[in-house]
Amino acid sequence: MITFTLNDKPVDVDAEPDMPLLWVVRDILDMTGTKYGCGMALCGACTVHLDGQSVRSCTLPMSAVANKSVTTIEGLSDTGSHPVQKAWSEHNVPQCGYCQSGQIMSAVALLQNNPNPSDEDIDNHMQGNICRCGTYPRIKAAIKAAAKNVGDIL
Ligand code: FES
Ligand code: FES
Repeated sequence: MITFTLNDKPVDVDAEPDMPLLWVVRDILDMTGTKYGCGMALCGACTVHLDGQSVRSCTLPMSAVANKSVTTIEGLSDTGSHPVQKAWSEHNVPQCGYCQSGQIMSAVALLQNNPNPSDEDIDNHMQGNICRCGTYPRIKAAIKAAAKNVGDIL
């Protein structure tokens, strides 16, 4: 049994220590907002937060999650009211949508650590999150808009 905190609630899961967090979240806990893309820490679709930092859940073993705090896209808000989610909606960022929960989780981690990012900061932080639909300009615009409401994020 492995104990950790998921979206501010304590959970115990019967999982092997080498099982990736993504499998636990999606297949054991039925939280499917976090997506499987490459399975090799290369695309960012599976991005969640571990103790406030963005991580790739497809390659993060449960042994590294024990007694720590995980936030998934479901943990940002119940209604899409988080400032980054609102900025995403206002800028019509998603196209197919597949990469977008990972994009949003990376953007939230960026703004929590750097409330006023430059274009270069955004590019550097987000470069590991791939979007095959090419929504990058809208992602950047939404991050800049959300940064203006950063007081609601921190
Ligand atoms: S599915 Fe984890 S980085 Fe691609
Ligand atoms: S919106 Fe389709 S992959 Fe990003």
